[in-house]
Amino acid sequence: MKLEKKKTILSGIRPTGKLHLGHWVGALSNWMKLQEEYKCFFMVADWHALMSEYKNPSMIKDSVLDNVSDWLAYGIDPKRSVIFIQSEVPEHLELYMILSNLVPLGWLFRCPTFKEQLTQLKDKDINTHAFLGYPVLQSADILLYKANSVPVGEDQLPHLELCREIVRRFHFTYKSKVFIEPQPLLTSVPRFLGLDGRKMSKSYNNCIGLSEDSASLKRKVLSMFTDPARKRRDDPGHPDVCNVFDYYSIFAPGKKTELPKECREAKRGCKECKDELIKILEEFIAPKREEKTKILKKKDYLRDILEEGKKKAREVASKTIDEVKVALKI
Ligand code: TRP
Ligand code: SF4
Repeated sequence: MKLEKKKTILSGIRPTGKLHLGHWVGALSNWMKLQEEYKCFFMVADWHALMSEYKNPSMIKDSVLDNVSDWLAYGIDPKRSVIFIQSEVPEHLELYMILSNLVPLGWLFRCPTFKEQLTQLKDKDINTHAFLGYPVLQSADILLYKANSVPVGEDQLPHLELCREIVRRFHFTYKSKVFIEPQPLLTSVPRFLGLDGRKMSKSYNNCIGLSEDSASLKRKVLSMFTDPARKRRDDPGHPDVCNVFDYYSIFAPGKKTELPKECREAKRGCKECKDELIKILEEFIAPKREEKTKILKKKDYLRDILEEGKKKAREVASKTIDEVKVALKI
């Protein structure tokens, strides 16, 4: 029987601060499942972080080990997946430069993420050459490992389309097929918002951290918005518009049947509903928080994992760069 070769996945997270539940819901929980089936490369995208945080780069360094220890505590398995830091594999910047030649400026200026970020991150000066090239570096990340699929949210689809265009242009220009056109692996992400009902994001200060401590977890959940129409305890509630209910759907799916009924019939108050959610989240977070503390104390263990990851990543990346140089006759 022919043994089928595992397909390759690459994904990355930018180390720009502490990770939060949004990272779990939107990325890490999916990575966990993917590592069962695919050959996975999970990358700390520190060069990408630098593109927006270049004025305060020390926070990137602080975030790298913190983030990786969260990945490990939440179940990303270094025995199955390659965990590495982008800047430790110099081939990323090499390929980025080579690909840059093939990318007309118009493609980048038209990229919806570029336009959006410029208006969203007003406090940061990201009207720069580097930030414009963000999706080109991302393409290099993906192509170096010949990833077949890239797990992405809707917002990153234009970057993947650009990556595919780059592949076609490379193959056409150099008459040699080095790369694989990566497919997006659209992750269906349940609705999950921050404490104030906006997208969970560090810049909105509305996050629950992946290693949030019990006291602040409690304070934060108690501050959450619920159904705005429910002014008094005996008013009927509307779970479909309640942020707290979305959290139940994700972290206690078993409650999905009885809770909405109790809420609509005003048999459950928002305070008790939040108290119960605090317990559920604390039970979810606490074991990982403890594991993370242990991991952070074992500096050698972390260093070894990243060394090993770097070695494995470079093995693949350097081979690809060799092929690229042959194609370019350089
Ligand atoms: N741009 C991604 C984000 O903001 C991070 C990232 C960098 C990435 N390189 C990547 C994601 C390669 C997937 C593949 O989340
Ligand atoms: Fe939301 Fe729970 Fe209050 Fe219903 S009882 S409105 S689900 S917090």
